[in-house]
Amino acid sequence: TVSLKNAFSGDFYIGTALDESQIEEKDPKVTKLISTEFNAITSENIMKSMFVHPEKDKFNFETTDKYVAFGKKHKMFIHGHTLIWHSQLPKWFSEIKDSAEMNAALENHITTIVKKYKGQIDSWDVVNEAVNDDGSLRKSVFLKVLGEDFIAKSFQLAAAADPKVDLYYNDYSMTNPAKREGVIRMVKKIQEKGVKIDGIGMQGHWHLDSPKIEEIEKSIIAYSNLGVKVSITELDVSVLPSPYGLQGADVSQRFENNEKMNPYPKTLPDSMQVKLAQRYNEIFKLFLKHKDKISRVTFWGVNDSQSWLNNFPIRGRTDYPLLFDTNLEPKKAYYQVLSLKQKE
Ligand code: G3I
Repeated sequence: TVSLKNAFSGDFYIGTALDESQIEEKDPKVTKLISTEFNAITSENIMKSMFVHPEKDKFNFETTDKYVAFGKKHKMFIHGHTLIWHSQLPKWFSEIKDSAEMNAALENHITTIVKKYKGQIDSWDVVNEAVNDDGSLRKSVFLKVLGEDFIAKSFQLAAAADPKVDLYYNDYSMTNPAKREGVIRMVKKIQEKGVKIDGIGMQGHWHLDSPKIEEIEKSIIAYSNLGVKVSITELDVSVLPSPYGLQGADVSQRFENNEKMNPYPKTLPDSMQVKLAQRYNEIFKLFLKHKDKISRVTFWGVNDSQSWLNNFPIRGRTDYPLLFDTNLEPKKAYYQVLSLKQKE
């Protein structure tokens, strides 16, 4: 059958992010699409600390067990997202002020989760979004309480809990030159300590005109030169204007769900479908050029109706960032991506 996963099977995994309703197979049509098109999955929310470790002495593995079972049933590459992140952190974790207590919490969190899925999960985002856009380290609760050692320590704990699983650092704006330098510095420090890190995840929340293909390419090459795998971990292409970039309007207006901010509330016009297809075309052309460096390309969601971008940074917008539309039908961009392989 013609599908993304079959077309790119000799190149890299093609993944998607799953949330609870998809994991619980609420809609058989959705399950069919997922199992036909994708051979890798990422947990969009359910493995984040607030869900899996809601209280200091309580873990909740109900949905995560279903997630892993789903991946096994469909013979997929299973990725865990994410162990240490400053966001979606339960209150008990975010309020720790003592370093011994934070070290113990980090150890219990990482060891318990990674051991639980040892040999079942193929790769983990160990640390997520620890670097600022200017390349400095984010002042998260982990940095404040433990200093930058929390990063290497997290990788060390994960490696000890499952020596065979691939361990990733994952972040957004990974094509921004200053951030790229900061991430490289951080990864080198981990490596200099002799701690295992296997991969770098470039999230890939991109737009029609940014980042430039050249910057994406520079990053793929630079990260790969560190001797690690590179994956595109959260790919989507927003077709909507960014409120941050909208000049002229006052700030309150910019963040309102008005005509300017939500220009295609019902359907995406054909001319825009073409633009999206062209953007995906140049992106996947680049991925194929560097397929020796890339292990996985994962979309952030299955189809447009459940994309996080419909609620970010303004709630209730209608974005069209993925390859399948709200009716689960393949878009022009889908056929464009497939045609790259048919031409080879
Ligand atoms: O859990 C509550 C639920 O109880 C409540 O009924 C519901 C009502 O809105 O909200 C639920 O929480 C939502 C949560 O996802 C779980 O579904 C939050 O409102 C919502 O803001 C949250 O958004 C997620 C976001 O991370 C949080 O930062 C998105 O779905 C998810 O796609 C997004 O993913 C992140 C990656 O993890 C890291 N990289 C960036 C990426 C996009 O922001």
